[in-house]
Amino acid sequence: MAARVDNLYFFLLGLTVFFSLLIAGLIGAYAIKFRRRSPDAIGAVIHGGLMLEITWSVIPLMITMVLFVWGASVFFAMSRPPAETLNVYVVGKQWMWKFQHLDGQREINELHVPVGRPVKLIMTSEDVIHDVFVPAFRVKADVLPGRYTNIWFEPTKPGTYHLFCAEYCGTRHSGMTGQVVVMEPNDYQNWLSGGAGEGSLAAAGQKLFSDLACNTCHRPDAQGRGPVLQNLFGKTVELASGERVVADEAYIRESILNPHAKITVGFQPIMPTFQGLVTEEQLLELIEYVKTLKQDTTNAQ
Ligand code: CUA
Repeated sequence: MAARVDNLYFFLLGLTVFFSLLIAGLIGAYAIKFRRRSPDAIGAVIHGGLMLEITWSVIPLMITMVLFVWGASVFFAMSRPPAETLNVYVVGKQWMWKFQHLDGQREINELHVPVGRPVKLIMTSEDVIHDVFVPAFRVKADVLPGRYTNIWFEPTKPGTYHLFCAEYCGTRHSGMTGQVVVMEPNDYQNWLSGGAGEGSLAAAGQKLFSDLACNTCHRPDAQGRGPVLQNLFGKTVELASGERVVADEAYIRESILNPHAKITVGFQPIMPTFQGLVTEEQLLELIEYVKTLKQDTTNAQ
């Protein structure tokens, strides 16, 4: 993505330099050419010039349309991750970055990723607004409490790259930095297997799911008091209010913290809130567990 952003940026820069020189040059040249030559000289009176007006309206219009279409295409490419991505969860808090890999590895202020694979960051904040910024990858996005935002990038060169917080978030905002370590695929595999062996996020989520007794109501056999969660992720859910929502990360998060906000049609608003009982990281584990619930026959305990 960096090359595409740079091309647009340098085109803009070139355009700006060209018109700055052209306008400044014309001002200078005309000031000399049309200078007052005798004390009683009076300028010619000109009433409009239709061709001139049209020309200097149409040309800028075309230039700005080029910028608009070009900029929009880069924006769309940046905001639409490919279907297959390596997902990493990011939790920002005053004043550190916490990264969670699906295999269970956790990192603070350091993110290891393999070269040549699209990586998607699914990000949220525990407190205030932060902003993930990796200048070398030309990606930057706000990290907001209470919702999930995404960015994606595909590292093309192994190395270590700066990671910044780009939203003023308190006293030690300027210290909320880190690094992205891009590794060769083999090194990355070694790094992954060298983890503490904590088990995957989904496995942690599964344990939490039974520890919190979610499984007593959300049963896979449709006999529970809560909706079946198997095959839920990514599907459209019909609500008691008649609305329809897509079951994405944000929906699952909200259903855990504020269960009465969206009641699935056919169910009673009986679920208690888990606000304050689960941390942002545990929410991610639960979400990741729900994502893995594929068939009606899986062992949902
Ligand atoms: Cu976090 Cu600035």
